[in-house]
Amino acid sequence: MERLQKVIASYGYTSRRKAEELIKNEKVIVNGKVVTELGTKVGPDDLITIDGVLINKDVKREYYILNKPRQVISSVTDNAGRITVTDLINTDARIYPVGRLDYDTTGLIILTNDGDLANHLMHPSFEVEKTYIAKIEGFLSKDDIIKLKKGIMLDNRRVDIKKFKIKSKDLEKKTSLIELTIVEGRNHVVKRIFKELNHDVIRLSRVGYAFLTTKGLKFGEYRALTIKEIKKLYNLK
Ligand code: URA
Repeated sequence: MERLQKVIASYGYTSRRKAEELIKNEKVIVNGKVVTELGTKVGPDDLITIDGVLINKDVKREYYILNKPRQVISSVTDNAGRITVTDLINTDARIYPVGRLDYDTTGLIILTNDGDLANHLMHPSFEVEKTYIAKIEGFLSKDDIIKLKKGIMLDNRRVDIKKFKIKSKDLEKKTSLIELTIVEGRNHVVKRIFKELNHDVIRLSRVGYAFLTTKGLKFGEYRALTIKEIKKLYNLK
């Protein structure tokens, strides 16, 4: 059960503050009765009507792409009170991240309240290509390169590296920037791949997800996906 004004806002009808005004102005009907009490709690089966329109049958779907900064958690809430990806998006819709990035990983993450699309994209059979740039300790040896080409075994299951490229090397600091594309969604998969090759990951960023990139978005910035992009995500396979 949740407060009526919060529920109205979560369906994308209006902001919570405006919802409170609507309630006070006797515009909101729950299960056929006018409600004026701001604290009224409603559940999923209660029918809410405003100006004759049933608002909680057809949830407005929202879709965002966020360039996640470091030190932000990829969930809706956090028990430790850390900033979450949903805190960074200005909406009352109940959006959540599609998949996750580590607390210290930056980059592209999709957020939506469209469960169908989220399930579609996260299903293991649905191989969305994700491209990462990892700054690693040291340089890849010939042996490392052969191993990456063959795929890396993690928990007795091979991770195929679809593409990889050494973008640059810092000879003084003894670090390298490696771009790699995988379809895997396992936790910490990129860090684990490099761990297998005895290289620590110093920094990690996801720069591509299917056809989407973080281009034009600074860390912490987001934008709504276009209808065309949403359709393309649905039709990926
Ligand atoms: N791989 C990782 O190790 N961390 C991420 O956040 C994403 C992929």
